[in-house]
Amino acid sequence: MSEWIAAFAPASIGNVAVGFDMLGLALEGAGDRVYARRTDNDRVTVLEVRGLDGELHPYLSTNAESNTASIAAQAFWSDHGDEGGVELKVHKGVPLQSGMGSSAASAVAAVVAANGVLGSPLPLDELLPYALEGEKYASGGLHADNVAPSLFGGLVLCPQVLLPQVVHLPAPNGVSAALIHPDLQVNTAHARRGLARSYATKAWLEQQGLLAGFIAACHSGDVDLIKKTLRDVIIEPQRKENVPCFDVVKAAAERGGALGCSLSGSGPSIFALCRTADARNIASAMEQACRSQGIGCESWVSSMDAPGARIEAI
Ligand code: HSE
Repeated sequence: MSEWIAAFAPASIGNVAVGFDMLGLALEGAGDRVYARRTDNDRVTVLEVRGLDGELHPYLSTNAESNTASIAAQAFWSDHGDEGGVELKVHKGVPLQSGMGSSAASAVAAVVAANGVLGSPLPLDELLPYALEGEKYASGGLHADNVAPSLFGGLVLCPQVLLPQVVHLPAPNGVSAALIHPDLQVNTAHARRGLARSYATKAWLEQQGLLAGFIAACHSGDVDLIKKTLRDVIIEPQRKENVPCFDVVKAAAERGGALGCSLSGSGPSIFALCRTADARNIASAMEQACRSQGIGCESWVSSMDAPGARIEAI
């Protein structure tokens, strides 16, 4: 048997409030690890999936056809693998159905690990389409706003019309992300099916303007403009009911001086962008607000240029 190669891929914040399905931010401090090694098999298989507690995962499947990591790795291996196959071990560090890009982190780590088995011949940007195959299976849609930041790190603009090209946005100086994960679950595929099919032109124009302003603010480092633009007038109102503590947590973040606060992906996680000096206090205020609703939670504070996926020494 050949040696295991380990790859780590971070959690991420999908949508970042202003850019539904097209803007994502890598999150420091949480991520999935996938180990890969060559086998005599002719395909990708999954040896084990372990959860946050290190135990075998109670419901994530080792069936290669229904596991995000193996689906992504198989897509890569079918195009680039040489003889034999690859066996994976998936160690989840991102909670499931958390809105923290859990399926994307597994898919990205698996593709990076499978590429690592071959000596990493492909640069990261050529791995994106393969990781997206895994995400598509999990969430039922082709959106790169978790996969792209998990793969590349930082803040990434990745509208479907530009894929496989993505745009790396500069992280505004002195701004950090705070995120809480309330102890709830939201199924992304289900949450996507529940969205309205059509929108008023007025709302569409408003959201377009906010996204354009936010991108400009990142380039100019204009923190006041970030505060003015970090809003979701279309998707958040439809989804916040799935997260009973949302309004209270958002109000706490705003009272603490957050530049903006919204759902992370389809929730239940809630993120805020903050001046870095305020970020820890805002994360604590969000946590307290969540607990005041009888819902447990954990929190992270992250820079806006968190690193993306990488091979790790074992
Ligand atoms: N953009 C996706 C959505 C992210 O909001 O449905 C899912 O985490």
